[in-house]
Amino acid sequence: MTEFWESSFQNKLTMWGFEPADSALAALELFTKNDLNKILIPGFGYGRNAKAFTDKGFDVTGIEISETAIELAKQHYGEHIKVHHGSVSAMPFDQELYDGIFCYALIHLLNEEERGKLISDCYHQLKPGGYMVFVAISKNDATYGHGEKIGHNYFLTRHGVKLFFYHAGSIEKEFRVYGLVEAKEVKEPAKNMGDKPSQVFWQITCKKQ
Ligand SMILES: C[S@@+](CC[C@H](N)C(=O)[O-])C[C@H]1O[C@@H](n2cnc3c(N)ncnc32)[C@H](O)[C@@H]1O
Repeated sequence: MTEFWESSFQNKLTMWGFEPADSALAALELFTKNDLNKILIPGFGYGRNAKAFTDKGFDVTGIEISETAIELAKQHYGEHIKVHHGSVSAMPFDQELYDGIFCYALIHLLNEEERGKLISDCYHQLKPGGYMVFVAISKNDATYGHGEKIGHNYFLTRHGVKLFFYHAGSIEKEFRVYGLVEAKEVKEPAKNMGDKPSQVFWQITCKKQ
């Protein structure tokens, strides 16, 4: 996993551009409406989503497995960014409690045990009243079923990435006990970008009581 992401960032650098994902803007709106400030971003990448939050004054900490992605983030957004280098499997990296957690396109890369641990670890680092938002690939995405089947709704793509495709049932099963308040399917990007097809994701929101 580490090698795959290292070589991806080394070869393709800032491969998703500098605009935040539309779901990051939706989470920004939710977090702002609820007066949240201190947030955690597991699967930080090179920080394109984090930037949307820091621009609005949020205190952001990231977790990222790729050293190259962290270096790219520093080059583009400054040395001061706070990112723990390592796998989310090694959470918690600090003893902080966060008001909000935003996790984009990471959880579906993990196996069942790792997904369960990530959700539980995030929940435990959330303050009461805090929100966590996960964005995960949907079974309704056009890539569902491509590659080698390695489990239920779980495929190894030709690029060597394992993807777990979520549907309403698996969301309910994995997130229900962690304060699931909403799960809706979204397109990323939301707008039609011409020759680049949108992907279908679930935007999953949990609130800690
Ligand atoms: C699909 S990318 C999304 C990146 C970022 N969220 C964005 O939207 O720009 C997944 C990210 O998670 C990171 N990643 C993959 N597995 C990880 C793990 N086990 N722990 C921490 N980060 C991981 C990758 O290096 C990559 O930056």
